Amino acid sequence: MIYQKKEWVEASFIKDYEKIYQYSITDPEGFWESVAEELLWFKPWKKVLDWHYPYARWFVGGETNLVHNALDRWQKTPIAGKLALIWVGQDDQERKFTYRQLNEEVSKAANLLKTLGVRKGDRVTIYLPRIPEQFIAMLACAKIGAIHSVVYSGFSTEALKTRIEDAQAKIIITCDWYPYKDKKLTPIENVKKAIKDISSVKNVLVVKRNFVSQTSTFQPDSSIYLFWDEEIKKQDNICPTTIMESNETAFILYTSGTTGKPKGVVHGHGGYMVGVYATAKYIFNLNMPQSKQVFWSTADAGWITGHSYILYGPLLNGATTFIYEGTPDYPNIEIWWKLIDQYQITHFYTAPTAIRMLMRYGEGPLKKYQLSSLKILGSVGEPINPEAWFWFYRNVGREQCPIMDTWWQTETGMNMISPLPSVPLKPGSCFKPFFGVVADVVNEKGEPVKKNKKGFLVIKTPWPAMLLDLWQNPERYRKTYFENEEIIKNSKFETLNSKQIKNSNDKNSKSLDNSNLGFRISDFVYFTGDSAKIDDDGYFWIIGRNDDVIKVAGHRLGSAELESAFVSHPKVAEAAVIGLPDEVKGEKIKAFVILKHGVNPSEELKKELALQVRSQIGPIATPDIIEFVDSLPKTRSGKIMRRVLKAKELGQPLGDTSTLEN
Ligand code: WT7
Repeated sequence: MIYQKKEWVEASFIKDYEKIYQYSITDPEGFWESVAEELLWFKPWKKVLDWHYPYARWFVGGETNLVHNALDRWQKTPIAGKLALIWVGQDDQERKFTYRQLNEEVSKAANLLKTLGVRKGDRVTIYLPRIPEQFIAMLACAKIGAIHSVVYSGFSTEALKTRIEDAQAKIIITCDWYPYKDKKLTPIENVKKAIKDISSVKNVLVVKRNFVSQTSTFQPDSSIYLFWDEEIKKQDNICPTTIMESNETAFILYTSGTTGKPKGVVHGHGGYMVGVYATAKYIFNLNMPQSKQVFWSTADAGWITGHSYILYGPLLNGATTFIYEGTPDYPNIEIWWKLIDQYQITHFYTAPTAIRMLMRYGEGPLKKYQLSSLKILGSVGEPINPEAWFWFYRNVGREQCPIMDTWWQTETGMNMISPLPSVPLKPGSCFKPFFGVVADVVNEKGEPVKKNKKGFLVIKTPWPAMLLDLWQNPERYRKTYFENEEIIKNSKFETLNSKQIKNSNDKNSKSLDNSNLGFRISDFVYFTGDSAKIDDDGYFWIIGRNDDVIKVAGHRLGSAELESAFVSHPKVAEAAVIGLPDEVKGEKIKAFVILKHGVNPSEELKKELALQVRSQIGPIATPDIIEFVDSLPKTRSGKIMRRVLKAKELGQPLGDTSTLEN
């Protein structure tokens, strides 16, 4: 069954995807340049794209700033008086900011950072829950060219510490407490513990969650702690926006990879801005001139969705972004629907895991709500199963809203494979690549696989919002995304890149040419880490990760990261962690643990280990199943073959086990 409506086409910026797509990939640089021209630049670029393996640099020499386009540009237009941000607390409190007010708050915060000695290029770690200051702090950093690193407030002390240390942050912005269901969480306590031995941290700014009374339970015991509200009061509400070269860093966002240490994904000002602006505009019809729009992405700024589609995407398009502090199931299961009606939400962008969780309560909780303000729905983070798609379509969208199943990653910065509201939708498929993006599904040799066959999902053109690098780890960057070792080693994968590298030593060899695909970049293959299929109509169907990344409720966790949390327990010798299918969370965590010699296995110990992992990473990493074992399947070189463990658990064929030692 295919879903498409005349009204959806009529209400869309783009009415003919195929035509514009073809144009966009015959001249991707021309396409992206025309998008960039819709935004403000202090100085135009000299070159649209500069591709030097393995780095793509966009709008080279161009000068701009994300905040110049997200806030400054609106100040002398009617949009200045429009709401930029609506925030609702778990306790029903409400805070609203027009574009003018938000600009003032951000300017004050930017001045505060400057008074504390923050300069262009300095790192600021933001460890805040979903409150307006989370976004004000991000914008304040970007405005002065400081680099924000947002750490999800649900991460524990250890995880926070690793991220502060890696970024060598100068300032931490946190809060005294916040409500989480019926609990009170105290991020400041985690910060205090995390920064004990980190000398880079000069100050900690503490937001008081009692916005009304501005009282706090936190008693600073050192002058490095400053209360945000008290310092903000002293600041001027005008602050010049720092001019940034397009490829200078805007932010770092840590995400899990296949080794124990999280990767600091680096995004810049210019290219990221262009990619996020264009996708927000065309995939969500944002800022269609005639319509009132309130965009609600239920993500958190601790993840890339929060950066690109709570904050920057909507503001770059002059739309209103809506933020709710709480969870979908508290105080009751109706809270999201109530908020949609109350705030006349037009765009609702969430994750399949949330939909599946809400589905369990049936249609009852939705019945008394109109939900008639909704125009477009969105899904992100993991494949959406058709059952959840239908439920979302029928009960939330009331069969009136197209669903944008957007495939992308922290690294891609922007939606990469996604429908537009005007295209024919197939439930469960994320449609086709966005304009200027060429995606493909290939086998171990790097050749496109046959229709409907599973293979590795790769991207074959640079795109403007692609990561600039991994923070202080260029080698890991190159290996992960362009010389995917796992695939090359385990599957004898010969990539276009690896040939390119070999060929570059041989002066006479012709450089590889895939110009028959209609784009000019001939040596570009970005490994996504996902596997996928393309159907007869060219629609993409994402299957899941093919590396050791697990997706629990849309959150990305590395097997190795979890394993090292297990192994740090004194009674554990070794651990292997895999993801298993889960009806609600998408995947759940199963751990195989070898105990040290002489340690007795017990249920008590299982609980202790689960707690250990939880306190090292965060509640999202709590293992679901722990099994004590005597040995683990390994390669001769000693690498744990998680693939074999997983196949065994699922009762599937073990695949190629020729490298298996035991
Ligand atoms: C991984 C990236 C991008 C924002 C949130 C996640 C999976 C993401 C989809 C989708 C199927 C999806 C992929 C991808 N993923 N969107 N629409 N359909 N899978 O960002 O934490 O960097 O995770 O999420 O496996 O590689 P992330």
